[in-house]
Amino acid sequence: MSKPRILVARAIFPDIVDRLREHFDVEANPDDVIWTQQELAARLADKDGVLTTGSQRVDAALLAAAPRLKICANMAVGYNNFDVDAMTAAGVQGTNTPDVLTETTADFGFALLMATARRLTESEHFLRAGQWTKWSYDMFAGSDIHGSTLGIIGMGRIGQGIAKRGAHGFGMRVIYHNRSRLAPALEADCKATYVGKEELLRTADHVMLVVPYSAASHHTIGAAELALMKPTATLINIARGGIVDDAALAVALREQRIAAAGLDVFEGEPSVHPDLLTVPNVVLTPHIASATVPTRRAMANLAADNLIAFFDGRGPLTPVNQ
Ligand code: DGY
Repeated sequence: MSKPRILVARAIFPDIVDRLREHFDVEANPDDVIWTQQELAARLADKDGVLTTGSQRVDAALLAAAPRLKICANMAVGYNNFDVDAMTAAGVQGTNTPDVLTETTADFGFALLMATARRLTESEHFLRAGQWTKWSYDMFAGSDIHGSTLGIIGMGRIGQGIAKRGAHGFGMRVIYHNRSRLAPALEADCKATYVGKEELLRTADHVMLVVPYSAASHHTIGAAELALMKPTATLINIARGGIVDDAALAVALREQRIAAAGLDVFEGEPSVHPDLLTVPNVVLTPHIASATVPTRRAMANLAADNLIAFFDGRGPLTPVNQ
């Protein structure tokens, strides 16, 4: 019997592609070409499965061009690049990579928070530019992390990881807002108190966004929400572009209506709103929250395992539709 045909839509670790080749007839993308939707559709015409990353959109038009397709294995925990309803209607299984990136991403949320609150990149650029001539009492004076109030919007696995780091590691008071309240035992574990979104925005010294992207979470933070925040507050987005109205944020940063922001994700990335590139009080990173070698390997292996388990008839390991 011939092997199922799989497309690996972006470059991933070559040894993991080799592992896939033991099970499948694989078309890979070793040069990491960014295919257009049309190019992707042409490659999917004869494929039974595809390994995607967040940068391939799987929608009704793509599915219509892929009559044999049975599974899309996303190498990401977020799957807002999938039109899950269209996939379900077309009988296509979707999978993601939860859990394996939780701690790494929570670490990065904290790294970005610390870099932002303590003005790490701004001060490094100043030093590298040869502008450091003397010590002064207020040079790059930022805000404290220890003992401050951390407000987390989105209290899934990553949000809980950040809460624990804040409460247990830095003595922060942690408040959170989520679609639903956590069970009391989980709240106690995270030392986190549930509050309304408005109260969170008004009281937090640092606001961390960890909510999945959907139509309902689009522009969770816009001009009105930024206006509620303290002028000394920082905003950190490690969730998805589109959760924040980047244009409104650039205005708030320029006018110092909030102190600073740290952004790992952007509306329309890899493009970044030009106004964000010119304000000094923002730390910008290129969607790297899960980027450690062990975690990216674990994500790629889990995506591969989903494909293998699915075609073995064992069922997907981490399905996003049923
Ligand atoms: C995810 O897993 O959703 C990340 O954003 C991709 O690195």
